[in-house]
Amino acid sequence: MLISPARRLRGSLQLPGDKSLSHRHILRAALVEGRSGLINLPDSLDVRASLGAVEALGVGISHADGRVWLNSPGLEGWRQPVAAIDCGNSGTTARLLLGLLAGSRLDVELRGDESLSRRPMARVAEPLRRMGARIDLAGDGLPLRVRGARLEGICFDLPVPSAQLKSAVLLAGLLASGETRVRETLPCRDHTERLLGLNSEVVAFASQGRAGIVREWIVSGRDLPRRAWSDIRLPADPSTAAFYVVATLLMDEGELVLPEVLINPFRRDYLDELLEWGGLLELEEIPGEGFCGPTFCGLEGCNPGEQCPIAEPVANLRVRAGLPLSARSLSGRRLPRLIDEIPALAVAAMRSDTPFEVADAAELRLKESDRLHGLVELLRAFGGQVEERADGFRLEAPAVITAARFDARGDHRLAMAAAVLALAADGESEILGLESAAVSHPAFLEDLRTLLV
Ligand code: S3P
Repeated sequence: MLISPARRLRGSLQLPGDKSLSHRHILRAALVEGRSGLINLPDSLDVRASLGAVEALGVGISHADGRVWLNSPGLEGWRQPVAAIDCGNSGTTARLLLGLLAGSRLDVELRGDESLSRRPMARVAEPLRRMGARIDLAGDGLPLRVRGARLEGICFDLPVPSAQLKSAVLLAGLLASGETRVRETLPCRDHTERLLGLNSEVVAFASQGRAGIVREWIVSGRDLPRRAWSDIRLPADPSTAAFYVVATLLMDEGELVLPEVLINPFRRDYLDELLEWGGLLELEEIPGEGFCGPTFCGLEGCNPGEQCPIAEPVANLRVRAGLPLSARSLSGRRLPRLIDEIPALAVAAMRSDTPFEVADAAELRLKESDRLHGLVELLRAFGGQVEERADGFRLEAPAVITAARFDARGDHRLAMAAAVLALAADGESEILGLESAAVSHPAFLEDLRTLLV
């Protein structure tokens, strides 16, 4: 794909629903008997993987009235799949589903594409086995076999701030006897906890010479969802929005409006960060609508005009082009809150008058590719001076972003980052593998084109 530089970006873009929320709503719908309807579900490869997985368990899927309908026999009615379930490129599908299958009656093989097969699964299998799960792993990744078993609740300290790991254990906790407690010292996205309406306690901890206050999530069979919901409207994906936000910030002129973007406190940090860098962004929170956006979801306990019980905050976002940026360094507790947006932030930092340093981001090496190394190569290809470190990098922006040829190596976020950087380059760039953007946003390029005027 050849991409020419651009100077102006203008318009409004309604983005598809958030990927993390989509996976969780699909699994929730599969757990309960009846028909659940989701509005603004993205047609991305990752979300298709979750739909395909629950379909293999006996959930009927149809499209009508602007909704994706999931008609489930409920957990007790899940059927034994006839073949391995293919999770494609989607780590969230594999890990969250593993938590549920561990406590089911089924015997299932989970597979993934080459990239997913290399990503760690042992970190998920370990606590599940402590709960009684029977999981056969050949190495650390997929394929694996899980044979449903009777689970018992455990107390689990999250060793890494991974929402996929946390969610897998919490979902297994729904099917276990007794209580499961998951404690996080470095908090990460909390969509599963919100969706299940889980209780938590704040507890003091002391271990390995460190002490502090941590949140402990508590789950048991009482939290198992029992009712199907329809008309759940998914707010736009902030991690996809990040690429359009940064594209706008890199232009000489223009303004972009992104309606109804999810601004969960664990997902909006990159916006706050870009504001601190000098970017002009305005968030207009949609008050009292919460998760449901402008449509009343009709959930039990959700009264029009009041905050929905599973509310996820949503805002309209306005971004203006043309302001100078001064990047700040990122490390520590911030990282889990913007781990997926590091590529977009690094692209913005290619126009910064200060260096951009990232530390404590080793998890980036375990994403759809070694995203840390790939990102360093991307920034170097376009003229950035970059020092790669074990858990991060230091970038000094070039005087001029030079046109480049870059292979996105099958990683959707590197592909979108490369395309945005190419818009700011001094000539035509060539991006290989841009089609991998379809993992999270198949219309990425088309949408970008409509905004470039
Ligand atoms: C996700 C959690 C994060 C994130 C991924 C989606 C989720 O991964 O990077 O894109 O939906 O729970 P980890 O759990 O591996 O940190």
